[in-house]
Amino acid sequence: MAIEVASLPLPASADPSKFVDFGKEVKGIDPGNLTDDQFKEIQELLYKHDALLFRDCSLSPEQQYALTKRFDPASENYGHGNNKTGSTVKSILHPDLKTIPRVPQVQLIGNGTVYNHEGLATANLKHPSHTTFHKTQVSQIDEDAGITRYYRWHIDAALYDLSPPKVTTLYGIHVPHGKRQTIRYDDGTGDELEVPLGTTAFVSGKTMFDLLSPELKSLAVRTKVKYAPHPYVWMAPARAMPTGLGIESEGRELPLEELPPWEESKLKVLPVLWKNPVTGNLHFQVHPCGVMELLVEPLPQGAKREGALYPDGAHLTDIKEVRELLYKMQRPAIAPSLVYPHDWKEKDLVLFHNRGVLHSVVGAFTKEQVRAFHQCNLAASDDPTGPTADDIKKYA
Ligand SMILES: [Fe+2]
Repeated sequence: MAIEVASLPLPASADPSKFVDFGKEVKGIDPGNLTDDQFKEIQELLYKHDALLFRDCSLSPEQQYALTKRFDPASENYGHGNNKTGSTVKSILHPDLKTIPRVPQVQLIGNGTVYNHEGLATANLKHPSHTTFHKTQVSQIDEDAGITRYYRWHIDAALYDLSPPKVTTLYGIHVPHGKRQTIRYDDGTGDELEVPLGTTAFVSGKTMFDLLSPELKSLAVRTKVKYAPHPYVWMAPARAMPTGLGIESEGRELPLEELPPWEESKLKVLPVLWKNPVTGNLHFQVHPCGVMELLVEPLPQGAKREGALYPDGAHLTDIKEVRELLYKMQRPAIAPSLVYPHDWKEKDLVLFHNRGVLHSVVGAFTKEQVRAFHQCNLAASDDPTGPTADDIKKYA
């Protein structure tokens, strides 16, 4: 049977003109048993459309790991490393992940208590919620009325020592059904988005770049981000913005000298824009919570200086300034009409181009609502590539 490709079911809130290339449902193929030719086709589809949905599939943890690895055969370890104890014990990611003993690259994530699951006798899962991460919280009355927030917009990546995974695979095993919720942005805009319970929200990094003014495009194309050492430990005492798009600057981050041992050479300095290996498009790929500094290259010779930001280049180390600049560039792309909130069904497999989208956990479950997903991504064998000389010439 030939591979059949259909559009993703967009909610009424989405602006279809902004989702022409984003997301496809793939039919007529078993993602756990792809031939080489089929895999090549899937790989190309993923880089062209950034998210692929397979419905009603059966996928063992072994098959999920093998599928994920095929996108980067030299990769081997989970995106945050296979050993999540020791130096990362204080990391904010620690409570959210349980490793499948047989296949340590695959994590069990979700909510509630799961018994006898793939070699885990009992797993107590907790769906991450804004209440433990944001500076402010939705009131109990509003929460009872179905109001919620994005938890944290991010790229799946350790952002220290390891390279950002190319692809993440998410497989829904138990999906609780419940009332839809409304994401409130709580940032003074009045923005809201109604979503299915426990949705995963995606936005396109390409759209994030395309929306920018020429001045901000010029800045983005010239800028690299320096991430903090052990960023998830560093940010653990800090609190996030109500949109989940970065951290409030309150000076709460762990001082660098109190972090687990780290080396300058293992810090991640990555371009703001990552080049799509198939389409050549530029995707604005910044994990705003982990950023410490920005390094801006001067304008290239011959570029128009009028109105240009940091025409002579800059090394921005004031964290408040860094965060405000990034927020200004990233916030437009999480507008309600630009978000794809996936409506999970049991046995859904979603593959997403982790170097082309940002995503967020959403919503809150009760303890009784049991959710079990398998997630896999692998620290990549290389770092993402930034803009080419031609891109810089075009946008700077
Ligand atoms: Fe994630």
